Amino acid sequence: MTEHIIVERTAAHPGVLIIRFNRPEKKNAITAAMYQRMTSALEEANADDEVKAVVFLGTEGCFSAGNDMGDFIGYAMSGSSEPPAGAIFIKALALSQKPLISGVDGLAIGIGTTLNLHCDLTVASGRSVFKTPFVDLALVPEAGSSLLAPRVIGHQRAFALLAAGEGFSADYALNAGLIWKVVGPNEVEMEALALGAELAKKPPQALQIARDLVRGPRDEVLARIDEELVHFSARLKSAEARAAFEAFMRR
Ligand code: COA
Repeated sequence: MTEHIIVERTAAHPGVLIIRFNRPEKKNAITAAMYQRMTSALEEANADDEVKAVVFLGTEGCFSAGNDMGDFIGYAMSGSSEPPAGAIFIKALALSQKPLISGVDGLAIGIGTTLNLHCDLTVASGRSVFKTPFVDLALVPEAGSSLLAPRVIGHQRAFALLAAGEGFSADYALNAGLIWKVVGPNEVEMEALALGAELAKKPPQALQIARDLVRGPRDEVLARIDEELVHFSARLKSAEARAAFEAFMRR
């Protein structure tokens, strides 16, 4: 069976752990099993002194289309009182002790966009689009984005992204401060991995302290993630969200 998340290290980029979305036939939509694999990879990175940076990558022309819609329906129908599958991954992102880098080429939807708010450097191709259609799906912002996005890009742009569901082009995202650099589609991976390898050469303790200072307290991010999850879980079970998911599956 194809691995939908590939976790690897390469000799060319020592100190870098790569987490790659690899489900291109479904636009790298993320299932519960994929969240679990990514969570264990982040935990592995925290526990391993040899890992100095983590780089998220997608496939050609697609970073991720966000949470798997089938899984959203499954959760809605299960009546589960547990948080949805992405919750543990989102917390692992917020708790990562290693610098996080993302290389985005193409679609970055839902958590494909909000994940980048937890990244320290994002490189994107000019053809990338960042979009979070939460409200259109009768959902609410997740992954701490309701706290992080206004800080990073300001209230109005955060509202346009997270509530109005506006798509941001790579150039717009760059000007807004959501990402670090725009490069050609063929350069995204090379650039993201090179950034990881450069960070890997730096004194790790100083880098970690610098990162912690720049990111600020994790507690408030974790508290906001929990607050969002209360609403997000309830919204997933709402009739209007079910209708939106089913409309997507039928289209
Ligand atoms: N969950 C499950 N499957 C998804 C998916 C998702 N989030 N996004 C795309 N797919 C699947 C499609 O169902 C399709 O599968 P099929 O070939 O078996 O029918 C395949 O990926 C290709 O998608 P398609 O819609 O045909 O490609 P497109 O280029 O026309 O559109 C998107 C791509 C991403 C714009 C569109 O698929 C989309 O809007 N997806 C939903 C994104 C979303 O709302 N995510 C949740 C955010 S909270």
